[in-house]
Amino acid sequence: MSFEKDDRRAPRVGTVKEVTSLSNPIIKDIRALSQKKHREETGTFMAEGLKLVIDALELNWSIRTLIYAKAAKGKAPVEKVAAKTVASGGLVLEVSEKVLSAITRRDNPQMVVGVFESHYRPLGDIRPKENETYVALDRVRDPGNLGTIIRTADAAGAAGVILVGETTDPFSIETVRATMGSVFALPVSRAEPRAFLDWAKNSGAEIVATHLAGSVDYRTIDYSKKPVVLLMGNEQQGLPAELADGAGRLARIPQQGRADSLNLAVATGVMLYEARRHLLSLDPPE
Ligand code: SAM
Ligand code: CO
Repeated sequence: MSFEKDDRRAPRVGTVKEVTSLSNPIIKDIRALSQKKHREETGTFMAEGLKLVIDALELNWSIRTLIYAKAAKGKAPVEKVAAKTVASGGLVLEVSEKVLSAITRRDNPQMVVGVFESHYRPLGDIRPKENETYVALDRVRDPGNLGTIIRTADAAGAAGVILVGETTDPFSIETVRATMGSVFALPVSRAEPRAFLDWAKNSGAEIVATHLAGSVDYRTIDYSKKPVVLLMGNEQQGLPAELADGAGRLARIPQQGRADSLNLAVATGVMLYEARRHLLSLDPPE
């Protein structure tokens, strides 16, 4: 890398490793992050693309390793994130495209990949405030759905996403990809159903569950009186009785046509924009 001599944030000689072999143990460890087990063991995950890495660093996520393609070397934004990585004690790897392809399991990989420390917001830390909206997802299975929901919740100004029960991993490469970086912006919490219900009961929020058998038209609910938790059911099974019973309301989105139900991420988007309608405007916030 070509840094100015007096740039104190520049990586020192020897801090950037060049790697071209797939059998390099550091590369093996990074590739293993495609498995949930290894993400959990290490408390780390991968994010692809320069934009995501820049977003994550701006939002103070801890980077362990920055990996970039030889072709990206010398580009100012890449050197900047490399310098930040070194400054925070991380490792910088310059690799071949073959190695990047293997790490991301893609034919045309992004030029930059970051390995970050994963982080959940403890549910007990959440005290819903006025005008806040949370999305709670019962056993969400599909990484694309979860990523899309995190992205949509971020866009709609929600305050967080709560994963209830056994769900797909918010830090899988597919989910992170689908969030387009919103996984770094929006706090994610997780809880077992019982703990979620206990929290919900004492949260002061209105729990609005969505259900195909709901009797309340989702547009008739007043979402402005209290903070709101939108509770969404599993893709295949919908909400179990245990969770549905814990909610103040069972809301339904009217449907015509032949479809049995809406896709989970679409239903969540519809609910979010209705619940936050009175809070959203095209005028930029002050
Ligand atoms: N077979 C499932 C069932 O019978 O509940 C379908 C689940 S649907 C694909 C996934 C989730 O999206 C539902 O549990 C619910 O939270 C939400 N959803 C989808 N369409 C909805 C609608 N028309 N009204 C309310 N919620 C809906
Ligand atoms: Co292993």
